[in-house]
Amino acid sequence: MHIEGVHRVQTVKTLSMLRNAIKSLRETGLSEASATIGLVPTMGALHEGHLTLMREAAKQCDHVVASIFVNPTQFGEGEDLDAYPRQLAQDSAMLEAEGVAVLWAPSVEEMYPEGFASSISVSGVSANFCGADRPGHFDGVASVVCKLFNQVTPDKAFFGEKDWQQLAVIRTMARDLDLTRPHVSGIVGVPTVREDDGLAMSSRNRYLSAEQREQAAALPRAMKAAIASIESGANVAASTSDLEKALLSAGFDSIDYAALADPMSLQLLDKLRESDARLLVAARIGGTRLIDNMPVSARGEKR
Ligand code: PAF
Repeated sequence: MHIEGVHRVQTVKTLSMLRNAIKSLRETGLSEASATIGLVPTMGALHEGHLTLMREAAKQCDHVVASIFVNPTQFGEGEDLDAYPRQLAQDSAMLEAEGVAVLWAPSVEEMYPEGFASSISVSGVSANFCGADRPGHFDGVASVVCKLFNQVTPDKAFFGEKDWQQLAVIRTMARDLDLTRPHVSGIVGVPTVREDDGLAMSSRNRYLSAEQREQAAALPRAMKAAIASIESGANVAASTSDLEKALLSAGFDSIDYAALADPMSLQLLDKLRESDARLLVAARIGGTRLIDNMPVSARGEKR
């Protein structure tokens, strides 16, 4: 909503306020047709990566709705639910500066009222990688994203490719459940935004000490080296094992996974076949778990 050239983001915290806000947005398109809405679901603690999603949504849709909800059902026991950064005022100012129309910021009680009993489970694509390391995580993600889709009814929804498996899970859910707002074709993956040294931007990077932050830059470096060797025909297991060794010697404490997979089904690949693949890594440095993924070209093209 623009008032005398000054943009105000409308923060809504209840479902009935959200529905009214969406109805008004739909009526404020430039043409007779109802205006289009792009949804950017987030858990807040916004950084440049999120803002890139907002900008992409603004390019492709008339209005942008952002959600901020630290979803408890996607955190496992002993994970960082309580410590997860919450900074609504700061986030809201950032969204306002980006021209976001509506900020949907429900409480846990609004999202999961007493008696809430449903869950969506997307098998196969959820099984490996973060799904194996964080049991129940993708059920929590799929369920809350499905709710967000039904609440906001966007034409398109925008997700960072940094969470590659999450994006694959959400696309599979949208396809399998015949979602219409958005349709699976309206689920847009936006390339990962990186710091100057290549580290993927993440709200969790702020947990790193200065020394750990420097060590963390080994992750994209080691991934690029592994991709170069896989693309030039080296053995996949040997390349990912070298990657793990490089991370450990750079100061990482442990590796959850480092593997090649089919980009859509997320099935493990023991070798590069005719079509492109994805290298996915999760590694821990101190108490912080970092994830990243990059494309691997079947034709060995330079990326
Ligand atoms: O990627 C995230 O921030 C979350 O997993 C999401 C998609 C907002 C669901 O809670």
